[in-house]
Amino acid sequence: MGLKEIYKDYFLVGAAVSHNSIKSHHKLIQEHFNVLTCENEMKWGVVVDNNGNYDYSKVDKIVAYSKDYNMKLRGHTIAWHNQIPRWLLEDCGKEQLLERTRKHISNIGKRYENDIFCWDLVNEAINDDDTTTMRKSGWTGILGENFMDDIFQIAHEILPNTQLFYNDYNESYENKSRKIYDKIKSMIERDIPIHGVGMQCHWNIYSPNMDEVKRAMEQYAQLGLRIHITEMDISMFRFDDHSRIDKPTSDMIERQSKLYGEAFKLFRNYKDIIDSVVLWGVADDCTWLDNFPAQNRKNWPLLFDENHKAKEAYYRIAQF
Ligand code: GLA
Repeated sequence: MGLKEIYKDYFLVGAAVSHNSIKSHHKLIQEHFNVLTCENEMKWGVVVDNNGNYDYSKVDKIVAYSKDYNMKLRGHTIAWHNQIPRWLLEDCGKEQLLERTRKHISNIGKRYENDIFCWDLVNEAINDDDTTTMRKSGWTGILGENFMDDIFQIAHEILPNTQLFYNDYNESYENKSRKIYDKIKSMIERDIPIHGVGMQCHWNIYSPNMDEVKRAMEQYAQLGLRIHITEMDISMFRFDDHSRIDKPTSDMIERQSKLYGEAFKLFRNYKDIIDSVVLWGVADDCTWLDNFPAQNRKNWPLLFDENHKAKEAYYRIAQF
C-alpha cells in the first residue's frame, strides 16, 4: 500500500525529486508520496545563472507535476552557503545583500506563492563545532550573526501566507541541537516570523541512536513550532568511512531497517507537531550519497532498491 495512504492520519510523506526523476521514478512517486521537494532545481545558484538570469523551466515542470498528482510542494532553499550564484555575496554591503535577497524572494517566492506551502528559508547556518553558534559564511560576514532575523522578516513581508522554516543537518546531536534550539528560541522571543524547524535527518546505520533523536525532538517540540523531517536518508557507511562494497551485508540491512522503523515510530508519536516527512530521494538507483562523501561509491540509503522494489526498511515503516 502507498505510504501516503498508510500515514494519512499522521503526516505527509514525500521525497526529493528532480525534473528527471519525476519521469524515471513516477510510478513510486505517485503511489507513495503526497509532498515533494526539488532536490536542486529551486536553489538560488541553480534557478539563476551567473548573469542573474532566471530559468524556471525545470521548476515549472515539477510544479505542474505536483499539481497533476495532487502533491504538496516544499520550497528549498533561499539563504545557504552552497549552490548560490558566484556574484551573490561579492562586492556588496549589508543593504545590497538584503536588497538582492528581497528581489530573489519576490521573484521565485511570488511566482510560486500558491504552489509552495513552506520554504526551507535558511539552510545550515548553525556551526557544527563547539566554537561559535553561527557558521562563518558570506551571510554572517556581510549581515552579521543575526542575519536570519533579516531574512525571515523580509520573506514574511513578501510571503505572509507561507510557512518559513530553518533547516539543518546533525540536528539530533546534543551540541548542535542545543545551538539550533537556543538560536530559534531567541528569534521567537524577538518576534521574528519563523514557523518551523526542518530536521534534515541525513543519518547512517550507526548514528544517531534513537535516544539522541528523541531528546532532540523533545527539545524542538518545546519551541512550539511545526517540525518537518526534510531530507531523510540512512547511509550504509559512517561519515569518515570511504570503503566500497558490492552489496550491503545482512547486518547492515538489518541496522538500516531497524533505524527506519524506530524513527517512523518516534515520528508517529509526535504527529501533533510533525506535518511532513520527506526522504532525500526515491530509490537507491538515484541518490546523492553515491557521490558523497566518497565519489562514485555505491550506497543504498532509501526505502526502495535499485529496481524500485520495496526494501525491508519500507516494510518496517509500512507495517505497524
Ligand atoms: C543538504 C542540502 C540539500 C542537498 C543535500 C545533499 O542537506 O540541504 O539541498 O544539497 O545537502 O544532496
